[in-house]
Amino acid sequence: MEKSYQKLIQGNKLYAETRLFQDPDYFKKLSKGQTPTYLWIGCSDSRVPANEITSTRSGEIFVHRNIANVVVHTDSNLLSVLEYAVRYLVVKHIIVCGHYGCGGVAAAMTNTYHGYVDNWLRNIKDVYHKNFIELDAIEDEVQRANRLTELNVIEQVRNLAKTTIVQRAWAERELHLHGWVYGLHNGLVKDLSVIHNSSENIDQIYRYELEHKLLSNAAHQQK
Ligand code: CO
Repeated sequence: MEKSYQKLIQGNKLYAETRLFQDPDYFKKLSKGQTPTYLWIGCSDSRVPANEITSTRSGEIFVHRNIANVVVHTDSNLLSVLEYAVRYLVVKHIIVCGHYGCGGVAAAMTNTYHGYVDNWLRNIKDVYHKNFIELDAIEDEVQRANRLTELNVIEQVRNLAKTTIVQRAWAERELHLHGWVYGLHNGLVKDLSVIHNSSENIDQIYRYELEHKLLSNAAHQQK
């Protein structure tokens, strides 16, 4: 069998042995269930693995990744992950993590045809279009891509806040949304401090009257 593939099987054996050496019950404990505190929405890029760059282990982060960490309100894959994480795993934090040097963001800034993926990257073109005055003023192409990467993360955090899933959670408890950008060049995360823990920063049209609805449901159940 091809060598590069065998490397993964060998690596897995080493991983399992190492964990068992440190704690003979490691897998027994993990197999009982998961209670992650965080939901990670990151880029599929192979250089941005959620656990590795945050020094966390199996069971700590629930993960969803796609090209250029986009939160699309009709993406049933993302919405299913989001609902499961928020409603059933009751995560406390959702982190949207983009990264400088993102190929998806760079591609979205061009007029080059790539294929089907261009329709996905259209979401980032929309972020550019929304912020074109600021972005067009940045002459350096790398700087412009970096800023678009940040604006994209902020926009995706906003998109999270617009979902019924997040707003429903907010009506009942605290749930923090964070926007991060990871630097491939230095391994460090930049926290964009776009923390949302209520729907105050969302335009009125995107807000659902959930508190009222949940209260009336609760009152109804008490009867
Ligand atoms: Co990327």
